[in-house]
Amino acid sequence: MQRTLSIIKPDGVARGLIGQVVKRLEESGLTIIAMKMIHMTKAQAEGFYAVHRQRPFFGSLTDFMSSGPAVVMVLEGENAIARYRDLMGATNYKDAAEGTIRRDFATDIEKNVVHGSDAPETAAFEMGYFFNAFEITPR
Ligand code: CMP
Repeated sequence: MQRTLSIIKPDGVARGLIGQVVKRLEESGLTIIAMKMIHMTKAQAEGFYAVHRQRPFFGSLTDFMSSGPAVVMVLEGENAIARYRDLMGATNYKDAAEGTIRRDFATDIEKNVVHGSDAPETAAFEMGYFFNAFEITPR
């Protein structure tokens, strides 16, 4: 079993896509074992994306991620990191496969509706960034 962090980003929440994203997650067989809505400060977004601080898009990305509420979730399942990344599709929606969340809903390389951890180490950091042990409810 593996766990991964999912975020429905501020564009996805603002556009009313929470239900459609959650439906795809549940239908895929992944289990949502933690979930809440948050509105990150700029500093919290900078801490979350610290790995990208040298990138040219860091300022814009952290402005966007702190621009409104987001939904954060922990997903659990066999091979959950790769399975969720397959459901999301490529970062750039133009490169994302047919039927993926980003291909179907994203409008922009930055405003790409969802985030998912890319490896076990980043998943551990990202889950711990938003959730404590009492907020995670495995079945
Ligand atoms: P995410 O999977 O959350 O990881 C980092 C985020 O940075 C990414 O999704 C996009 O929202 C954003 N991002 C990645 N590459 C670019 C880019 N070239 N230009 C603007 N934003 C980007």
